[in-house]
This record gives sequence, C-alpha cells and structure tokens, in this order.
Amino acid sequence: MKSGTLFFAVLFLGVILVVLYSCKDMGTVPSGQTGLSASSTNVTVNKGATVQITLSGGTTPYSIIHQPDTLKAKITLASSLLTITGIETGITRTVVGDHTAPVPDSVEIEISVQTTVPLVSFSNQIQPIFNSQCTGCHGGNGGLFLNSGASYGNLVNVQAQSSCTSLKRVLPNDAANSVLFKKISGFSCGSQMPQGGSLSGSDIALIQSWINQGANNN
Ligand code: HEC
Repeated sequence: MKSGTLFFAVLFLGVILVVLYSCKDMGTVPSGQTGLSASSTNVTVNKGATVQITLSGGTTPYSIIHQPDTLKAKITLASSLLTITGIETGITRTVVGDHTAPVPDSVEIEISVQTTVPLVSFSNQIQPIFNSQCTGCHGGNGGLFLNSGASYGNLVNVQAQSSCTSLKRVLPNDAANSVLFKKISGFSCGSQMPQGGSLSGSDIALIQSWINQGANNN
C-alpha cells in the first residue's frame, strides 16, 4: 500500500473515532450532579385511574421538563408528589427535573396505560351470542342445550360428549382447555362452531374472557 493511501486511511479512521466519541455523551445528564431520584421510573396505570410517584434528592423546587403524550396520560406535580392519570392505552414518557445549577438534574419516567378488562356478564353478553348464533342447532345437537336457562348448566364443568371427551365443555379459568373455546376459535375438537360459519373476533374474545375470569353465572 502506498504511504499516501495509508495516511488517508488512518486519518479517516481517526475522524470516525472522534465523531463517535463526541456522540457518546449526547443526551445524557452531565455527571457530578446531586442525584434527583423518583420512587419509580416505570409505572403502570389503568385508564382513568391515578398513581403517585415521589421525587427526592437533588435541589428543590422540582419541575416538569417534558410532558407525556397528553392523549395517553396527564401529570401534575405538587412539591415532590407527581400524580399520573391514565387517559388512553399505550406507552409514553415524562421527564422531571430539579433546580441544580447550571444544568438541572433529571429523571425520565416511563408510563404505560392499560385497560382492565371489565367483568363479562354471562346473561347480558354471552347468552345473546348463543341466542343469535347457536340455539338453532343447540336445542340438543351434540347433547348440548344453549338456550337461556339451560346453557350455563350444560356448559360449566360438564364433560364434552362428541369430541375431546376427556375435556370439560367449559373449565373455569382455563379457556385453552375448554371444548367450547376450542370449537369456536379453531378446528380442534371436531368441526368449528357455529357449524358452517364462525363467530366474530370480538365474540370469541368475549367468551375467552368470560371463561378465564372464572365462567361466572352473572
Ligand atoms: C348448524 C348447526 C350448529 C350450529 C349453528 C352450532 N352448532 Fe355446535 N354442534 C353442532 C353439532 C352437530 C355438534 C356435534 C358434533 C361436533 O362436536 O362437532 C356440535 C357440537 C358443539 C359442541 C361440543 C359439545 C360436546 O359436548 O362435545 C360445542 C361446545 C358447540 N357445538 C358449541 C357451539 C356454539 C357455541 C355455537 C354457536 C356459536 C354452535 N355450537 C353452533 C351443530 C351446530
């Protein structure tokens, strides 16, 4: 290799190293600060509910440096108490800081907003699915009655009769091992139900939640 080429190769590498090194500390808080901290930097809050975080250390007063995405969560800061309210499902971040000079110390807090699945009502949400999609046949087909009044007692903790006979039609808290769920969600345990069609994704999810919540007779 010519010495000229070698020189430029070394120079090029050098430039890359300098650029990489100068990027290393970008965006981080300068060291040697007083150490503001939060009681949690990763919180989960239900939609419509609130959680509180306490700030400590550093130099008061504290302030909000970056608001979270306010479509997802809202925050208020009163002295050292940060109150976070969940607005919409998703993940957002907030940054709070203190009064350390010349550069405030800061803490980033990740907020995940969740929806709790409300308790499914058997009579108001599950039975209507049976009435519109199933009772045409299940006034006895497969030994199964799904009409109002008979359905619950025909399903919960009752052994399946036509296929997957080692399993219960509905095993409370375990949709994956319930023949009802297996038959509406796919093709295991014989033909998919309703025979000749299928339920909507949301109806399938509703029945799954109902079973996994304990198959309540509510
Ligand atoms: C067109 C008629 C028909 C419709 C509509 C229908 N089923 Fe069925 N179903 C059958 C027949 C026939 C069997 C027995 C053969 C089998 O298991 O595939 C059966 C079996 C079942 C079984 C198994 C029972 C056991 O003890 O083995 C379940 C659970 C079931 N159906 C649920 C449903 C649900 C829930 C719906 C409504 C979403 C539905 N079916 C709609 C005809 C139907």
